[in-house]
This record gives sequence, C-alpha cells and structure tokens, in this order.
Amino acid sequence: MTAKRFKNPRAEHGFQGRSCSILSVGSYVPEKVLTNADLEKLVETTDDWITSRTGIKERRIAAENEFTSDMAAMAAQRAMHASGIKPEQIDLIIVATLTPDMMFPSTACLVQQKIGAKRAAAFDIEAACSGFIYALEIGQQFIMSRTYETVLVIGAEKLSTIVDWTDRNTCVLFGDGAGAAILQHRPNAHGLLTACMGADGEKSDLLFMPGGGSMCPATKNSVAAGLHYLRMDGKETFKNAVNAMHTAVKEALRRCELDITQIKCVIPHQANRRIIEAVGDRIGARPDQVFVNLNKYGNTSAASVAIALDEAVREGVVQRGDLVLMVVFGAGLTWAAAIIEW
Ligand code: UT7
Repeated sequence: MTAKRFKNPRAEHGFQGRSCSILSVGSYVPEKVLTNADLEKLVETTDDWITSRTGIKERRIAAENEFTSDMAAMAAQRAMHASGIKPEQIDLIIVATLTPDMMFPSTACLVQQKIGAKRAAAFDIEAACSGFIYALEIGQQFIMSRTYETVLVIGAEKLSTIVDWTDRNTCVLFGDGAGAAILQHRPNAHGLLTACMGADGEKSDLLFMPGGGSMCPATKNSVAAGLHYLRMDGKETFKNAVNAMHTAVKEALRRCELDITQIKCVIPHQANRRIIEAVGDRIGARPDQVFVNLNKYGNTSAASVAIALDEAVREGVVQRGDLVLMVVFGAGLTWAAAIIEW
C-alpha cells in the first residue's frame, strides 16, 4: 500500500474543493505486427541490434485505410465504455498528435463526429511525444475552472506515414496506436496533482519533419527529396531526453513534497529502454516501479504513455489511490512530468 502523505500544489492556486481525476482510460493498437525479423528484410539491421540498443521487439502498423482519427476514436470508445460515460456527456475533446489525418480540420473534430460527441468542443495540440501530458494539463485547467465537467483527452499517432522505411536509423523505432483518458472532478480524490511542462526551441533541429508545413509545402521536389519524413539526431536526442526527464521528475516530486519511494508506478515515455533505465537510475526508482511496454509497440509518440497507463490499469499494476508518475520527452524539444493520485 502506497504511503500517502503529500502536498497538493493545486490547493495553493485557489482550487480548494476541486480536483481533476482520470475517470477511466482506454487504448487501441492496430492489428498488424511488424517484428524485428520483418525489418531485417527491409533494411540492413538485426534483431540483436534493435533489441540491445532500444529494447523494441515489435511494433504495430495501421492499415492503409486506418487513420489517426480512427485509432483515436477506438481508444476513446474504450475509455468511455470503462466508466460508462456517454458521448453526449463530453464537453471537450483534445487530441495530441503530430500525425493528424489532415493539416486541417483538426483530428479532434473528426473524432467528435466518429464517436458522436455532438455537444463537445474540439481541438488538437502538438507537443510531439510530450503531447499527452500537455493535453492532460490543458484539460485539467478546464475542469478546475468549472468551465467543463467532462473532458476527453487522446494521444494518437500514425507514425508509419512519416517514417522513411529505407532509413535504418529511424524506421526501427516507431509504431502506431492511440490512448485516451476521460477527465472529471471526483469528490474525495486529488487526481492530477501537478504537471511540470517545459520546452527548448533552440534544439528544434534535433527531431523534426521539414516538409508539409508553410515553410516547405508539398511539391514534387520536396517529396522526391524525402522532406516529408521525420529526421532525428539520435545521440543528442537521447542525452537531452535523460536530462530533461530527470529534471522534470525532480521538480514534480518537489512540488508535491513526495519521495520517489512513495510512487507506486512510474510510466515513462516509451522511446528507448536505455533512456528509461537511465532516467529510472537517476530518479532512484526501483526497476519494479517502472512500467515498460515498448518491446511490444515501439515509440508511439503522443500515444505512448496513454497506452502504457491503460495497460498498467488493466493489468492491476495501478489501482485507485495509488500515486502514478508519468514523464515524457519529445520534439520541440518538449518534456513534462505529471503526478496523479489514481
Ligand atoms: O520520442 C522522441 C525521443 N526520441 C528518442 O528518445 C530517441 C533517442 N535516441 C535513441 O534512442 C538512440 O540514439 C538510437 C536508438 C536512435 C540509436 O542508438 P545509438 O546507440 O545512439 O546508436 P548510434 O546512432 O550511435 O549508431 C551506432 C551505430 C552506427 O554505426 P557506426 O556509425 O558506428 O558504424 C549506426 O549506423 O549503429 C548503426 N545503426 C544501426 N545498425 C543496425 C543505426 N541504426 C541501426 C540499425 N541497425 N537499425
């Protein structure tokens, strides 16, 4: 049983008596499995290299006619089913994604239609792999301010569409999927205690996709030059990820006057097992406190911690009343750490 003496930083911001809890979660991953052995046939790589450098064994790939909004809607429906929330109850939908169905309209609007949440306002946010915690914090603000009662937050990605399948440096890392959470005020619960978010635009060139935006719209030349594929400086991204995630976790624990031993489950962004182990080491977490599922899904960016949280709940690793620490890192650069009383 988790020792539960902590400070609720929200109370200091005039939010006494109000909290934002995650009522339920749900996730969806596509059926098609792409194993390391399959990748050995596509690029010059080996199962041994991928496993030892990343911890990934396989990832899921969406069908050609299965889009980010479809996966997001599936995850949302599973989250709604888990808490008995009806589509008409949802006031707001926030989708975190860097692979929207289209430049516009937002994927959130497409999800609104697919799940029949006719009353809901809807918008997307883009904070790359950090998107789910950014979206949780935004949703939380609407609940705390009593603007909305029920908010649906989703992280969803079809990264297989922006990966260069001839580049072994990146194509082995990513997968598709979606995770969703329903937010509401729950009496007698603290819910989302804090979220420490950060960004560093100076390092935007470590992980980016040059084509497809207003700087470099799609032309025959841009497509021929492969500008619509993601690019990453892996080593620098790795170092920055470990440092930023460590710092964000320290700050989140400090704000709540918590010690890492009081945390039941740490759910880190699932990018690389070595990053997870380095962050775990630095924050003093025991390996059995840290949830890992990247062996099955690879890096699913904004969907990563949302899928992991859903699995941790379904497997009984996280139970009501437990303290959960989520920590993410991604392009931007962006990062965030959140502490939740589940
Ligand atoms: O979600 C957003 C955040 N993203 C991340 O956090 C990713 C962070 N970075 C990483 O996870 C790691 O840097 C990688 C997994 C991408 C790469 O691991 P690394 O230990 O940094 O390897 P490296 O890039 O230094 O490459 C080492 C060698 C190179 O060969 P040489 O130059 O030493 O001869 C690469 O060409 O491994 C080679 N290599 C591969 N070999 C077999 C790179 N990719 C592969 C591959 N298979 N798939």
